Amino acid sequence: MRLHPKPIQTFRDDFSYSNSEEAIARFPFPFPQDDYMYSVNIEPHVTPGPEGSVFEHLLDIDEHYLSEMAERDIVLRENAQRCLAMPHMDVACWDLIERAMTSLAADYPQHFSLVREGERWTWQNRLLDIHDSFTFGDSSTLPLPPLEYIGRQLQGDFALLDQRDGDLFMDAGIVTCPADWSLRFDAGMSFSEWHGPVPLAHEMGVFERALKYLTAIPVGRPVRRLNWTLTINARMDSSPETFPSWGSDRTTVTPDNVGEKVYLRVELQVLDRMPRSNALMFSIRTYLMSFDDLVTNPDWARRLHRVMKTLPPELVEYKGLSRFHPAVVEWLSRFDPAN
Ligand code: HEM
Repeated sequence: MRLHPKPIQTFRDDFSYSNSEEAIARFPFPFPQDDYMYSVNIEPHVTPGPEGSVFEHLLDIDEHYLSEMAERDIVLRENAQRCLAMPHMDVACWDLIERAMTSLAADYPQHFSLVREGERWTWQNRLLDIHDSFTFGDSSTLPLPPLEYIGRQLQGDFALLDQRDGDLFMDAGIVTCPADWSLRFDAGMSFSEWHGPVPLAHEMGVFERALKYLTAIPVGRPVRRLNWTLTINARMDSSPETFPSWGSDRTTVTPDNVGEKVYLRVELQVLDRMPRSNALMFSIRTYLMSFDDLVTNPDWARRLHRVMKTLPPELVEYKGLSRFHPAVVEWLSRFDPAN
């Protein structure tokens, strides 16, 4: 199965975003058991993964490509600081250009192509009608700064972590669809600093073990993990910067409209070592699915009910679900025969 990008839909205002049956079938449902707690849930991102799945390629391109690129453009026009790169991250940004262009051209040759003649590179993105020649490593030959240039052509958010003193630092990124965190706020922070607000995980030693694992990732051996939260409406940009435009959505959920209003938001996070800079690439590919679509799969519906019902209160609070969590549990109970 191949998902071809469809015409532009919106993640704001009239929220015209929708998932096809194929997109529902390949949704990365994140719950392997009936309850959920934080863990070091990291596994090798071996590619090619199962054909047609979101794990098939290093970077997943799907039917929402044009919509997500249009949404990114809106966010960057409103606030240019949603893309930041400290000067010492320049080589890492070029690393990302190389990794993204070579893998997209190999994995989706119908959409992307790359011709390399020494340092002279020619890149074609047929989906966005882009055809550029540039000198690799020379930013003056690109129409935009390197990270913004490539970030505007990739689904999902990207952070580039500088590695020094056995720690990781958030020194560059393009983040236009975060689940309630800010690149501008976290810029320059270390791994445990930017994870500061997360409850329970520090005490459980999750971050200490994860950091050891991440700093040892070699070139060519990417790893992945899934994270999740709930979002009201199909809103990609749930950032602190734009909180005034989405915070009050949480008060609009009733037991009757959960199916259409509440979305499971799953992040497929891939970590990949960059060869020149030794930076770590962290990509956050977000998949949104309405509860109405999720419950078309009875196994997912039942499991989601059990996970939501038993979710530790600290996680309910941290993930911002307190206002509507009881309505969600009640609505989902209809789909759980054991209830
Ligand atoms: C180096 C790459 C990573 C980056 C850039 C990153 C970034 C973040 C950020 C910005 C947050 C939101 C914190 C806030 O509330 O402000 C977060 C949450 C979190 N991160 Fe990471 N993270 C990374 C890797 C990991 C890894 C490897 C784990 C594995 C255990 C992990 C576990 C978590 C957890 C459990 C949360 C809370 C999520 C939730 O409940 O929704 N992170 N991360």
